[in-house]
Amino acid sequence: MRILIHGGFFSESSQSIETKTQKQQALIQILEKAKLYLADHSALQTAIYATSLLEDDPLFNAGIGSQIQSDGKIRMSAAIMDGESQKFSGVINIEDVRNPIFVAQKLMDEEDRVLGGSGACQYAKLSGFDSFSTQTEERQKEFIAKKQSKGTGTVGCVVLDKEGKLAAATSTGGKGFEIPGRVSDSATIAGNFANENCAVSCTGVGEDIVSNGLATKIVTRVTDGMTLKQAFKKSFSELLPYDGFAGAIGVSKNGDVFFLESHPKVVYASYNGLENAVFM
Ligand code: GLY
Repeated sequence: MRILIHGGFFSESSQSIETKTQKQQALIQILEKAKLYLADHSALQTAIYATSLLEDDPLFNAGIGSQIQSDGKIRMSAAIMDGESQKFSGVINIEDVRNPIFVAQKLMDEEDRVLGGSGACQYAKLSGFDSFSTQTEERQKEFIAKKQSKGTGTVGCVVLDKEGKLAAATSTGGKGFEIPGRVSDSATIAGNFANENCAVSCTGVGEDIVSNGLATKIVTRVTDGMTLKQAFKKSFSELLPYDGFAGAIGVSKNGDVFFLESHPKVVYASYNGLENAVFM
């Protein structure tokens, strides 16, 4: 069994040491809960659960604590992918729900599995999700001060369960100050992808991640025979020509875990079947 979670980029220039420690502690606590959960749940269920805990923590830019867009509104995106069924579902630019990842989970049972904008909001409402403002005082202050911390980032989780099944889940509050209607990578296969061989979740600048097709490219390379590390290295090298800003976590079916970032620093925590580790 393996679990990796990420809490997006940490900006040394705009975030305090205290925030860094808080994020590390939060990731370890979430990882501990996810480990217990994985004992009797599938990879997909655990990836969703861990991501919902990350969404609930205002330290991270997803769910509660999401960044505010240029028109003063919060629009969030989230997706899941089940490696076994190879089904992807997600919401793009959803508003006023506490956990976008749970709406993505609900969509997994629908014929139409990726919804955007007003359709996603309407679907959540009709499906019984309570209206909930994810805006925090901290983000409001940043918005008023027009402070944009590049890539404070997306959250995500990849899991290998005891049956050897893989899953990925990713959720974001976006870049902050974006043009309304801008689409994040998180609810695309560039930002979140899994099959029976590998699962990957990304963070960073959505435009750079989509340009590289990062998650799907890494998974495809592992499927075609590269090791997880080789697939990460090759795919990240392809970000270099345009100085792409991205980080990713991955797990393969043989239990390899790997993460990489093009710029410092993403916050990660991992469980390798024996012990926890936290990185930044
Ligand atoms: N990776 C989050 C975004 O660019 O929206």
